[in-house]
Amino acid sequence: MARPLADIERECAGCAKCPLAATRTNLVFGVGNPHANVMFIGEGPGKNEDLKGEPFVGAAGQLLNQMLDRAGIPRESIYIANILKCRPPGNRDPRPEEIEACTPWLRQQVASVHPTVIVTLGNFATKFILQTSEGITRLRGRVQSAGPLRVIPMFHPAAAIYDRSKVTALEEDFDLLRALLERDSQLDAQVGEGSR
Ligand code: URA
Repeated sequence: MARPLADIERECAGCAKCPLAATRTNLVFGVGNPHANVMFIGEGPGKNEDLKGEPFVGAAGQLLNQMLDRAGIPRESIYIANILKCRPPGNRDPRPEEIEACTPWLRQQVASVHPTVIVTLGNFATKFILQTSEGITRLRGRVQSAGPLRVIPMFHPAAAIYDRSKVTALEEDFDLLRALLERDSQLDAQVGEGSR
């Protein structure tokens, strides 16, 4: 039986399995619909997220919000978490030992939310969820799979802020997500009609 998110979060708040717990301001556990169909996974908290205790509230979050709006997906309908729950100082990349220490929390979150689609934002989330060494540039643009889960790897919104040519790719990938969700809801409706 998967545990409720609130129980996992309470336990995670006391985690000291890596040194990042000592330098963070707030734990950034995750936010959103605890039974979301779609779960987004980013890299780790930045400065704004660390101050607020919530993922994707800074500039990258604004671009994420724009993309969600464009695809007609309410932010409250999804669940958002990161690979790391504590901010790496100076926004440096997550270290392998930090990812190893922190991702058991993410595994529990995925089990609890039980999404049907995971969107991985950037290389760290994509490599972890797909258990691959292949980079995001080669993997994006198609629906991938991890066991029963459908995974849509996307460029990290922060990367698209620095390289605007990636915005078009993000839009395409959100179109892919929207099409997948529309197909799912059509199938659900057909199943509903069949059982009436
Ligand atoms: N970048 C991330 O990967 N996650 C956040 O929460 C914010 C910025």
